[in-house]
Amino acid sequence: TWTTEAFVEEAVREIRAKVGDKRVLLALSGGVDSSTLAFLLHRAIGDQLTCMFIDQGFMRKYEPEYLVKLFQEQFHICVEYVNARDRFLAQLEGVTDPEEKRKRIGHEFIQVFEEESKRLGPFDYLAQGTLYPDVIESADTNIDPKTGERVAVKIKSHHNVGGLPKDLRFKLVEPLRKLFKDEVRKVGRSIGLPEEIVRRHPFPGPGLAIRILGEVTAERLNILRDADFIVRDEIKRHGFYHDLWQAFAVLLPIRSVGVMGDKRTYAYPIVLRCVSSEDGMTADWSRIPYDLLEVISNRIVNEVKGVNRVVYDITSKPPGTIEWE
Ligand code: XMP
Repeated sequence: TWTTEAFVEEAVREIRAKVGDKRVLLALSGGVDSSTLAFLLHRAIGDQLTCMFIDQGFMRKYEPEYLVKLFQEQFHICVEYVNARDRFLAQLEGVTDPEEKRKRIGHEFIQVFEEESKRLGPFDYLAQGTLYPDVIESADTNIDPKTGERVAVKIKSHHNVGGLPKDLRFKLVEPLRKLFKDEVRKVGRSIGLPEEIVRRHPFPGPGLAIRILGEVTAERLNILRDADFIVRDEIKRHGFYHDLWQAFAVLLPIRSVGVMGDKRTYAYPIVLRCVSSEDGMTADWSRIPYDLLEVISNRIVNEVKGVNRVVYDITSKPPGTIEWE
């Protein structure tokens, strides 16, 4: 029978045998796959592992600080923090089309990854959180004709876009390739990954950028980040976090009239999106209590400057998608 302990032991042995004394690079996103991967590799090869964390500026409030601190200070895993916020924002100037946004973010990610891995390198191996379902699709790897090994031609970041240049084709370390998602969670938990990461909601690679409809600006990012923080804060406080697949805020690039004190306001609406789902393929909008909706709405309108209205998305998937872009 499969046990996490046996899996970890075997994986550590395999990683050591494969990597030897070489250096391994890992693109850390803070999701459960890349975090579990980082813990596993760190256990196997310690400081031969370098994690690269690219901050594109579209993460949730306090998230980059939290992750870097957690990995670096609490678990002594080497994390290279890359602040690329301005670059990503510049790429999105004037862009409103959802696909174009994703494409530009993906390309910029590869660009930054390439530059930084040259600066920090050389590395012999790239660790990827490939899971069993990805192996079956495996369009992002080639087989090296000489060695028969899988070689990365794309970085399977959470963006899944953009090819790696020829001189940056790493050999791959993919210790999670036989696992399904629920097994990754078990492995992560068994090697000490904090529950907060093991059970966190999915978060799209392009992050808040695809939850701002229309153009992404620094002002809109700040507004959405604050609204999003309140949503999660209250959902957790009321004990609903683990019942939901996702709970988040979306900013619409329109304005409506409101009144605050004795003043007329003209500001953005925030959409509250809470869904339950098994796998993200289909989803139901969540019947969370009116009282909770009220608290979230009041806090967002009172605490987030630039927002004067909160609406609740009551569309399931299909026909809606979970995200708005
Ligand atoms: P949709 O919006 O298609 O989303 O119903 C289904 C699930 O996928 C997540 N999602 C992403 N995850 N990179 C990711 O890693 C992405 O680009 C991406 N886009 C959507 C979404 O949050 C939901 O859980």
